[in-house]
Amino acid sequence: MAGKVGIIGAGQVGASAGYLLSFTPGVREVVLVDLDRARADSEAADIAHAAAFARAGLVRGGDYADLAGADVVVITAGANLKPGQTRLDLLAANVRIVSAIIEQVLKAAPDTLLLFATNPVDVMPALAVRRFGVAPGRAIGTGCALDSARFKDRLARQFGLSPTSVHAQVLGEHGDSEVLHWSGARAGSLPIALFAERMGVDLPPDWQARIAQEVRTSAYRIKEGKGVSNFGIGGCIARLTQALVNDEGTIFSVSTVMDDVLGIPDTCISLPHVLGARGASAPLLPELDDSETQALRHSAQVLREAIAAALG
Ligand code: 2OP
Repeated sequence: MAGKVGIIGAGQVGASAGYLLSFTPGVREVVLVDLDRARADSEAADIAHAAAFARAGLVRGGDYADLAGADVVVITAGANLKPGQTRLDLLAANVRIVSAIIEQVLKAAPDTLLLFATNPVDVMPALAVRRFGVAPGRAIGTGCALDSARFKDRLARQFGLSPTSVHAQVLGEHGDSEVLHWSGARAGSLPIALFAERMGVDLPPDWQARIAQEVRTSAYRIKEGKGVSNFGIGGCIARLTQALVNDEGTIFSVSTVMDDVLGIPDTCISLPHVLGARGASAPLLPELDDSETQALRHSAQVLREAIAAALG
């Protein structure tokens, strides 16, 4: 891949992603596109000045036509979550906005991979697949990759570990019905509860419920405190894009359109996928216990209904 990345939306999420991408190995050019061209140019200039301290990264503002030849286009534009709203409350407004964006992006870069960060992030890949005929593995929602990072971060803090030694994923909706995959969570190669026992870590009886609640409501709490959540999703976008442009074969919990999940048809939720130059592999449903199976089925149904409401 040539390492060209487009970002649609030069708000705080797009700018945070652009900033990190300008330092990401394998990314040679970042084009920021926004309705407000002056804003895109100014964010790009500011980022380029930071990048100049480390290396000569090419970051610029541009129009849709400047996305020609892009390997990955990241869509961050749209209405943001306000305090008291859920991600699904943004459905109608953002489907309209993102639909117009996809049309323009595909005109300029018909072969690009699409990475969606606009909420509800699990509906947008369905929009690209159903309305624009994009192949399912080429329309990817950042989905629960961010929630999985939050889960790992929380477990690592609980056990005094590096997050790199914690393997834990969140599945389902990037939102209120998400499912923390406790039965698959590992510290090194040990199931997380066994690790705690071996290390003699004293845990309160409701520790799992507490962590689940914290992970699920992270964005709400961040928004209450600072009005926007931008660095976590910016880091997530940069890491997923790195995996795509470098054909890494790294596994992340991201959302793609699926014909069937546990008997729920036509949905789009996060499951582990291998990410590489051709986009996302088919979803890899992990082994689940009974309560996880039930919760994931519910989450798949929530998204199926949201997609049907948005796209018919
Ligand atoms: C987040 O989880 C708002 O979806 C965004 O930070």
